[in-house]
Amino acid sequence: MADLAQRVAEAADLVTVALDELLPRGEGAESRLTEAMRYAALGPGKRLRTYFALETGRMFDLDERSVLRTACALECIQAYSLIHDDLPCMDDDDMRRGRPTVHRAYDEATAVLAGDALQAAAFEILAHPDTHSDASIRAELVMKLAHAAGARGMVGGQMIDMVGVHAGDLGGVARMQRLKTGALIAAAFELPLVMARAKEAERHALLAFAHDLGLAYQIVDDLLDAQGDPELMGKAAGKDAAKGKANFVTLLGVDAARERLGLLRKQTKDHLESFGKRAEFLRASVDFVLERRN
Ligand code: IPE
Ligand code: IPE
Ligand code: MG
Ligand code: MG
Ligand code: MG
Repeated sequence: MADLAQRVAEAADLVTVALDELLPRGEGAESRLTEAMRYAALGPGKRLRTYFALETGRMFDLDERSVLRTACALECIQAYSLIHDDLPCMDDDDMRRGRPTVHRAYDEATAVLAGDALQAAAFEILAHPDTHSDASIRAELVMKLAHAAGARGMVGGQMIDMVGVHAGDLGGVARMQRLKTGALIAAAFELPLVMARAKEAERHALLAFAHDLGLAYQIVDDLLDAQGDPELMGKAAGKDAAKGKANFVTLLGVDAARERLGLLRKQTKDHLESFGKRAEFLRASVDFVLERRN
């Protein structure tokens, strides 16, 4: 596990350095926008989506610089989604990644615009020839990330979260999770799979893994909201119950949510069976996700 923490930390360093190079530096009045983009995207995120993308790239012997660019695109979408998620009209949070949220550090208009511009930056990075020499592959990367980020992915899930899921509707919570969190986590596997032109069976197995891993990821997020340490998490706890949000923990209770995680641990790893030793680090990342404290 220490080994894995080290690998995740290395991935985080790589993507932060790459993002620092890729993100714009504004001059004049728009420098407020580019500073806010940098504040959000270069902040101390866990970078687990980057880690998953890099590890998948290694399984298929992909060029690391290319995969790193797709990771930058994923992290731009992630940072944008968090900026908007924290806005007063959404979850109204003051702390993120251990620091004031963007609308607190700047202002709401700047936060909205920084999110908008980070979303555009993600697609600019992906579409650039440095990401892949084959334009048809680049187009597919753009399409897959757009799908994961949009109405049939993250933003759709955020809408469900805002409208609210009825008490007792566990299927509704599962669908919300699949969209708001699952889609972007799945994209961390899907983009390298596109670059690798992976076989259908490999794609199928890895996406099944991503699906269960994403589900576990959100259950842990919901458990941390209920019981986590805000200091370690760098964000407030207790918000979901206070706002009456339906999630895995508010619906199932802590014990049943933990039990579900216990079952997911093996089920998730089982999807990697056909990859043997090639997937050793992805297999270990399941425990890392389940045991995370932040
Ligand atoms: C937070 O995502 C929101 C969810 C999708 C659960 P992370 O917990 O991955 O946040 P960072 O990127 O590490 O800050
Ligand atoms: C947000 O889920 C998922 C996103 C798409 C940003 P949450 O609202 O539960 O994330 P946290 O708990 O604020 O990080
Ligand atoms: Mg939210
Ligand atoms: Mg939130
Ligand atoms: Mg949460």
